[in-house]
Amino acid sequence: LQHRVLTDAKVLPLDGDPGGRSVIERGAVAIDGASIAWVGPADDLPDELSTWPAESMDGRLVTPALIDCHTHLVYGGNRAQEFEQRLQGATYEQIANAGGGIVSTVLETRRATKDELLKSADARLDAFVREGVGTIEIKSGYGLTQEDELKMLRVARELGARSDVDVVTTFLGAHAVPPEYAGRPESYVDEVCISALRQAASEGLVDAVDGFCESIAFDAAQISRVFTVAVELDLPVKLHAGQLSDMGAVELASSFKALSADHLEYVSEAGAAAMAQNGTVGVLLPGAFYTLRETQAPPVDMLRSAGVELAVASDCNPGSSPITSLLLAMNMACTLFGLTPMEVMAGVTRNAAKALGLASDRGSITTGMRADLAIWDAGSASELCYYAGIDMLARKIYGGSDA
Ligand code: NIG
Ligand code: FE
Repeated sequence: LQHRVLTDAKVLPLDGDPGGRSVIERGAVAIDGASIAWVGPADDLPDELSTWPAESMDGRLVTPALIDCHTHLVYGGNRAQEFEQRLQGATYEQIANAGGGIVSTVLETRRATKDELLKSADARLDAFVREGVGTIEIKSGYGLTQEDELKMLRVARELGARSDVDVVTTFLGAHAVPPEYAGRPESYVDEVCISALRQAASEGLVDAVDGFCESIAFDAAQISRVFTVAVELDLPVKLHAGQLSDMGAVELASSFKALSADHLEYVSEAGAAAMAQNGTVGVLLPGAFYTLRETQAPPVDMLRSAGVELAVASDCNPGSSPITSLLLAMNMACTLFGLTPMEVMAGVTRNAAKALGLASDRGSITTGMRADLAIWDAGSASELCYYAGIDMLARKIYGGSDA
């Protein structure tokens, strides 16, 4: 690893400094080894850095590499058939209550070998990498036995080990009640979910703990039992909260100082205030809103005035968001939820890093941060959010190296 200076760059530092600039025209970014050594207008480059090798970006946009902070990238099979059922009028809940939905992916994931899961997830991961994603979160939650949850987490770790992307793993044993425990969610939590979590954590397979708090999944008391074990294991929590109804999930997540509460179509003002107070990031998932043709969007104005920091993620999964594009989710966050392109950019960089507990390490172009950068054939955040489908990534730098 060497040192170098990227010059003639249009830099979006995403540093969150309210008094700072949102765009540095004719900027420079100095990289020393794996970290950012300096950023600012090229004219202000300190003398001692002017002798470092320089590479012109030819006026291109330079942003932090993108971070997708909510995916279910590893799974077996697909749910195209449920897509057809929904087109004929069935709802997501009706399909779930009839034994389909998450449970049908669970059966396929249990059947799949580790190699099969690796292969299908790798193809999806590649789509994210080609769009400038440098860090991606991957959840378990389609195994729902100790062995199958561990299998998913090992696949996620292996994907990270062999690609130019960092994988952050999340244990989601409380995703659905598996068929063998139908009608006995408490027994599932106590007999399977919690012991699988302990085992996975002891093998270093877990970076955070998630749950699905919803009428078709687990209630607040059940999630709370899982979170109590997470706290004991010193693992941060996050929660699928308020996707289809308000079950008090946001308040529960905040009371555990969750890194994030995700979905948020249904959230009260008290819930939003609790999030802001506890530093819980609101992760918006417009791909799921779009796919399920929901009509109640997250109350973005209310979340903003409460001071909740917002992230945007793909929620890549076979049921509610079969989308392997963070750029598409960014587009949808503007069009469907009314976020501004700069809010969206913060949502896939700085705030996404915070939602993964990585805020001090990545997600902005500031001195000392990891040099994970995306260099775009685009002129602005708006342009990145506006197109859907075009390949705008010119180059990617990952941990200071060209990737
Ligand atoms: O984030 N809501 C729970 N989990 C996923 C859906 C998973 C599935 O349908 O397979 C979500 O939307
Ligand atoms: Fe999800």
